[in-house]
Amino acid sequence: MSTVQTTQLNIPPGMINFGVGQPDPSLLPLVPLQKAAEHRFSQNNPLILAYGVEQGNGLFRIALAEFLGRSYGTPVEANELFVTNGISQGLDFVCTLFSRPGDTIFVEEPTYFLALRIFADHGLNVIGLPTDEEGLIIEAVEENLAEHRPVFLYTIPSFHNPSAVTLSQARRERLVSLSEEYNFLLVADEVYHLLAYTATPPAPLGSYIEAETVLSLGSFSKILAPGLRLGWIQTGPTLIKRLVHNGLLDSGGGLNPFTSAIVRSALELGIQAEHLAQLKTIYRRRIVTMCRALRQQLPASVTFTEPDGGFFVWLCLPEDIDAGALVDDARRYNVGFEPGISFSSRQQLRNYARLSFAYYDTAAIEEGVERLAQVINRRLA
Ligand SMILES: Cc1ncc(COP(=O)(O)O)c(C=O)c1O
Repeated sequence: MSTVQTTQLNIPPGMINFGVGQPDPSLLPLVPLQKAAEHRFSQNNPLILAYGVEQGNGLFRIALAEFLGRSYGTPVEANELFVTNGISQGLDFVCTLFSRPGDTIFVEEPTYFLALRIFADHGLNVIGLPTDEEGLIIEAVEENLAEHRPVFLYTIPSFHNPSAVTLSQARRERLVSLSEEYNFLLVADEVYHLLAYTATPPAPLGSYIEAETVLSLGSFSKILAPGLRLGWIQTGPTLIKRLVHNGLLDSGGGLNPFTSAIVRSALELGIQAEHLAQLKTIYRRRIVTMCRALRQQLPASVTFTEPDGGFFVWLCLPEDIDAGALVDDARRYNVGFEPGISFSSRQQLRNYARLSFAYYDTAAIEEGVERLAQVINRRLA
């Protein structure tokens, strides 16, 4: 009998694949979302099944603005929010509306590898800029601005994918000023901002939207469930107008009104806040387990910084080691990771590897690190 695939992931039995940057299925909130859906259906309002308003349902945006304001610690207004199908769609939409093939954009080096795929779909000329332990190096942005005119700069300011680094407050402010001075959009992917375990990041770039150059993208994928395909863009009135007035929304109405209606109940009933608090406790435990195991089992020549939030540990191997060449070896040991080169816009970062602790419980993490250590230690011997 032929088999049909039912989710994006297809991990062979027995494999521990730290390359997977998704929530563990046991953490997907089936029962809480059933409660939210029952609450919404009990309101008996058939309009949750109608075409939605272009910006996204106003009552959902009010509930989301309250949740974000509380979680960020800075006020968020419903009229600053535009509803998306998640960050991936939001990025694609931003490219469609604000760029033309051949335009230049700046990204961080490293950056989220699947965003690079979206930018390639739009024929953009991608320039990767260096980062350090405080995120994008501002001098490098300035140097490149002297030479190039990017339409936007894509950044993951908090608990970066893959590096786990958080952009400092001072650099956030400098980047916003530069975007105003040189007239480019600052596209901030804040997908991990709320997944803070041991340190609170500076205010999200969404708190700088008065600049009218900032688009702050958020998502329910990592704080509730990726299958919802629901997210938002926070921005100022001029850019909201650009997002709302276009053929896609004229024809199809606002994005995902039905799911928004259910998630509105999850926000209003406190289901989202409670779920997020649980995730933070669980992921924190997993980081501690992964980092302890890595420290115990890998040689001192393999380095990493213990992350304060997000989903990832970014391993730096000795320079002469190509992590990509270890992938097949690792598969034989039934363990996986994402090699650093995936996150480079210039085919570099070969001696890095990204590990995610989000998909596996602590026992599997310990087992997986043991397997990975055998692969790396064998190569280093
Ligand atoms: C940095 C980053 N942006 C975006 C996404 C995808 O977000 P969404 O599911 O909202 O499209 C991910 C998921 O791994 C991510 O790590």
